[in-house]
Amino acid sequence: MTTLKSLLLALALLGALATSLTAAVAQKGKATGNAATGRQLFAETCAPCHSATSKTTNIGPGLQGLFKGRKMPATNRPVSVAVVKAQIQKGGGGMPAFGSKYTAQQLDDLIAYLRTL
Ligand code: HEC
Repeated sequence: MTTLKSLLLALALLGALATSLTAAVAQKGKATGNAATGRQLFAETCAPCHSATSKTTNIGPGLQGLFKGRKMPATNRPVSVAVVKAQIQKGGGGMPAFGSKYTAQQLDDLIAYLRTL
């Protein structure tokens, strides 16, 4: 009986640990990008084709609310950080590929900015 109790206690502790670790990782994922830097990068490179303040298509689709929606505006793929980063690096559908123009940090900065739209 005591063995079972301590086993259950251990499991509960493990669960709590896993939950806080997950929360820490999620928090970190949000904190890595600098939205102010991302805003600048967007203004320099993306803004000629993408509106940040509407969903209206200019040359590319307006990106307002990108991360608040479930589907990517042009391709209807599910919205995720990975899909947006891939779009930036590989382009497609008339958008140029930016390849290695951006460092991992700059990609995170762009994502942080896009999350604010
Ligand atoms: C020369 C114009 C141009 C530039 C510059 C450009 N894009 Fe695009 N972008 C497009 C076009 C055109 C599409 C539509 C692609 C399609 O129809 O599949 C697009 C699509 C997108 C999409 C939606 C993709 C989807 O799956 O729906 C995102 C997100 C995006 N661009 C982000 C960016 C970001 C961030 C930058 C700056 C780093 C950028 N774009 C620069 C033209 C551009």
